[in-house]
Amino acid sequence: RVASDWLARLPKTELHLHIEGTLEPELMFALAERNGVALPYADVDALRAAYDFNDLQSFLDLYYAGADVLRTEADFYDLTRAYLLRAHADGVVHVEIFFDPQTHTVRGISFATVLNGIRRALAEGEREFGITYRLILCFLRHLPESDGFATLEDAMPYLAQIDGVGLDSSESGHPPQKFARLFARCKALGLPRVAHAGEEGPPEYVWQALNVLDVSRIDHGVRSLEDPVLVAELARRRTPLTVCPLSNVRLKVYERLEQHPLRQLLQAGLVATVNSDDPAYFGGYVGENWRACAEALDLTRDELLQLARNGITASWMDAADKVRWL
Ligand code: HPA
Ligand code: ZN
Repeated sequence: RVASDWLARLPKTELHLHIEGTLEPELMFALAERNGVALPYADVDALRAAYDFNDLQSFLDLYYAGADVLRTEADFYDLTRAYLLRAHADGVVHVEIFFDPQTHTVRGISFATVLNGIRRALAEGEREFGITYRLILCFLRHLPESDGFATLEDAMPYLAQIDGVGLDSSESGHPPQKFARLFARCKALGLPRVAHAGEEGPPEYVWQALNVLDVSRIDHGVRSLEDPVLVAELARRRTPLTVCPLSNVRLKVYERLEQHPLRQLLQAGLVATVNSDDPAYFGGYVGENWRACAEALDLTRDELLQLARNGITASWMDAADKVRWL
């Protein structure tokens, strides 16, 4: 068993983190009060008790409802600031954060309000803690592709402040193929691309993310293991997977953490990384994902070092920073 202080000091990255998924019940209630929003829960404990999910959709329903308390630039700043304090405490040196503009613009909140609040906290976090960062705009796949195009239009004046695009929300029934034209447009604009695939969806969705959306990373991707030809291709291309172990257990992709295939992914030669996804909802920030996996899977020091190196390699940090951490 590895020492917990050794694990705590390991330089970590977070490459799969939805900023809306870091909204802790306490902050949700505080922002509800600040903004005069009524929540359908008596208190923080009642809200937390509702975090008992059966699958991805049952989580998403609460995640989108909770995001309704986010209204002002200060709200997005406070949200991101609180997350960075947690990340810093966990020894995270670099973060790549997803945000879901459509969740907010549909409620009449401007793209700039969301972006400015998040970026102000990120810039401050880098000055204060040295945490480098990238920001990834995610399109909601349960909405039509045309809605994604409208969101890309909203983003056009701010493209210099967006480091890439992703695809999230309800996976089943919404294959990557649905967004072929939108992602082709993003590619033409020079935007790096990632997509959630193979979380609940089949290996075929991972193939589409690779071959149709031309992504450079797969978010989750754990179901790739069902297709040996796909595993070989991901290994050959060295396409990183941003794996979220505690999320997978909470959303019942795996019944218990002991059954999580993190080690199999490493043994197959894949660039697997450890991430937290929506830590306020899934019961653990990135440090807890590392600790829980080290324990439940009895990971060796070499395996943990490999996961940390994979996080640096898979990130979009500057080359000089990669050299520094590797
Ligand atoms: N999967 C898909 N969409 C999401 C997730 C996830 O794990 N978290 C937030 N949006
Ligand atoms: Zn996710």
